Amino acid sequence: MPLRIEDVHATEILDSRARPTLAVTLRTADAGTVRAAVPSGASTGSREAVELRDGDQRRYGGQGVRRAVAHVNGEIADALRGRTFRSTADLDAALIELDGTPTKSRLGANALVGVSIAAVRADAAARGQELWQRVAELSGAVPLLPVPHFNVVNGGVHAANNLDFQEFMLAPLGAAGLAEAVRAGAEVYARLKARLTAAGHSVGLGDEGGFAPAIDRPEEVLRLLVEAITDAGYSPGRDGISIALDPAASEFWSDGRYHVAGEDLTSDQLIDRYTEMADRFPVWSIEDGLAEVDWEGWERLTARLGERVQLVGDDIFVTNPAVIAEAVGRKVGNSALIKVNQVGTVTETLEAVRVCREAGYTQMVSHRSGETEDTFIADLVIGAGCGQLKSGAPARGERIAKYNRLIETADAHQALPFGLTPRG
Ligand code: PGA
Ligand code: ZN
Repeated sequence: MPLRIEDVHATEILDSRARPTLAVTLRTADAGTVRAAVPSGASTGSREAVELRDGDQRRYGGQGVRRAVAHVNGEIADALRGRTFRSTADLDAALIELDGTPTKSRLGANALVGVSIAAVRADAAARGQELWQRVAELSGAVPLLPVPHFNVVNGGVHAANNLDFQEFMLAPLGAAGLAEAVRAGAEVYARLKARLTAAGHSVGLGDEGGFAPAIDRPEEVLRLLVEAITDAGYSPGRDGISIALDPAASEFWSDGRYHVAGEDLTSDQLIDRYTEMADRFPVWSIEDGLAEVDWEGWERLTARLGERVQLVGDDIFVTNPAVIAEAVGRKVGNSALIKVNQVGTVTETLEAVRVCREAGYTQMVSHRSGETEDTFIADLVIGAGCGQLKSGAPARGERIAKYNRLIETADAHQALPFGLTPRG
């Protein structure tokens, strides 16, 4: 079924951090009008597709997106209006060609990704399909409800505390189903709040809805998490609830050293520290354990821990199929974070997933720290069969919207399998 575009329009709206982003509406002959809103990161990889910001200090401290909006309403609308595309892949190819740069820096990846997501939504609607069903066809994957990864303690550039590691996530690997997994996350979140309060810590929240206590040692957070898991009546570990970390190490790397809780560590010292954490705590996954520039360190990290811990590349891979292929060749990591706006179109995102699948790398679909109420990633993770989604804490509307989309889909489609793989 071809995609017959009637019109496309963008508006400058706000994201969850009160920074401007884009909402895109797309009108097609067969699906009426659909909408997409664009997320935005804070701890970004240097090789990410370029998010175009105005730089005009008189508006939003230079963070406005009027230029990207103007590109959608001008050049992109002119190129799409009245045109028929055989597929959303063809439409994405036309966007990439129109932009003409390798990093989407001319029109802006934030402009392109809004149009690209809206196009898949229109395509699904025109076919009378759920969005995830269309994504499954596009990706050739077996649809799967993912294990949610709840980021319940925030640090790094997502919070004003002195915790260097950015994310501490609960991964209910042992849950019987999606609804039970979400319940587990919410119950432990509540017990963690009680523990933090009892210990005299602040329970103010970071950008992704996790608590942001003034704790600097990551091991202290891990200890609290294990206690909260136990308090809530779950067992810490793969049969119950495991822990996933995203230190986002590029953010505390400088001059060849990693600066963690007042210590200056070499790559190998930090790898030792991760090994100890994996020995002492139920840590099943570590994302961006080392900096995006530290490929040699990543090789050693993977050789040391790759058999027992999921090692996810985010800033280092930037959802880029070519970079992931390079990583596979160098035995760097064993998993990739999947963020649509890191690469700029849905087609390229699904290509990144395919490269992972063929290489035996797992995939975790991800929100950004700046989000909107758009739930596209929930359908993406189901349809692309990735098995893991991180969308922040079980708190804050823009985070919860994705988890609720999963819950409602699980309820409406009881035959959908749940877990890291279709076999659980
Ligand atoms: P970001 O953080 O959205 O601020 O880039 C998310 C992450 O690092 O995974
Ligand atoms: Zn990350």
